[in-house]
Amino acid sequence: MSRVLVTGSAGRLGRSVVTALAAAGHEVIGVDTAPGTPQEAAATLPADLTDLGEAFEAVTRFRPQSVVHLAAIATPFSRSDAVTFRVNTQLAFNLCEASVSLGVGNLVVASSPTVIGYGAPGGWRPAYLPIDEEHPAQPWHAYSLSKLVAEQTMQAFARTATATRMAAIRPCFVIAPEEWAGAPTQSGHTVAERLERPEIAGASLFNYIDARDAAEMVIALLDHLPSLPRNGEVFFAGAADALATEPLADLLPKTVPGTEGLASSLTGTTPAFSSAKAERLLGWQAKRSWRTELS
Ligand SMILES: NC(=O)c1ccc[n+]([C@@H]2O[C@H](COP(=O)([O-])OP(=O)(O)OC[C@H]3O[C@@H](n4cnc5c(N)ncnc54)[C@H](O)[C@@H]3O)[C@@H](O)[C@H]2O)c1
Repeated sequence: MSRVLVTGSAGRLGRSVVTALAAAGHEVIGVDTAPGTPQEAAATLPADLTDLGEAFEAVTRFRPQSVVHLAAIATPFSRSDAVTFRVNTQLAFNLCEASVSLGVGNLVVASSPTVIGYGAPGGWRPAYLPIDEEHPAQPWHAYSLSKLVAEQTMQAFARTATATRMAAIRPCFVIAPEEWAGAPTQSGHTVAERLERPEIAGASLFNYIDARDAAEMVIALLDHLPSLPRNGEVFFAGAADALATEPLADLLPKTVPGTEGLASSLTGTTPAFSSAKAERLLGWQAKRSWRTELS
């Protein structure tokens, strides 16, 4: 058992991470500005982690072996661009600074697949499909830019940290357990509506993941961080299939013109994002799919 501090512990992903870590025998400390951290947490601290002093105090007070940093403005365009960029980049810097300065052993930072740039109004086409971690990043809005900066902040710290092992996770479009039963997903629409009408699916047509699978990936990362060959790796975490009833080879060209040739390998249930790196280095694979979870 170890002590793990989870930021954003009351959020859509944070709740599943707290529950999974506690079930795996860890002592979990939840830190969030909002209430709602699951009761499995051994302690909670309301704190605004954009304040470096509060970030240092949280880590100093609980002395965790690991920090899982999820807190963020997590929905693109939900706040002004200036606020989204400032809050998310400040949060990443503060958690890296506090974790490294105070000798935390493991740090996981939440990034996002939006760094790739899909949906750009000026037209965007992938360099290749399925997209993996080597694909160029082309953020086009404040949220995706803030997440790329968060990743690069983590990697800058990783270059000099001696006691802290760290990585970033790019969770695909997160679906919380209650959303399978019909609650609205992050940016509106139920899962069933997204499946029925691919034209409104947006990000979830490219990628999705059950929040519990993402939580299991966080645990796999914490287990493997000390032995990964390189500090500061980035991992996609996505379901093994696409959130679609037709192959993406047929669907993607309808929403992203010009992808006919590129998408031709996405036959059957193949998703647009690959999590092969996580499978290779962490032994992690998503267990859940809309086919197993949708009520
Ligand atoms: N939901 C997704 O589809 C998705 C996809 C990719 C990446 N992510 C990333 O995963 C992480 C978790 O996302 P989520 O869906 O659980 O988001 P969420 O909005 O449900 O939860 C984020 C939590 O962070 C907290 N928070 C925000 N600012 C804070 C601050 N200054 N100090 C302390 N706590 C603060 C919020 O109160 C909230 O509980 C985020 O970093 C997000 O960018 C999410």
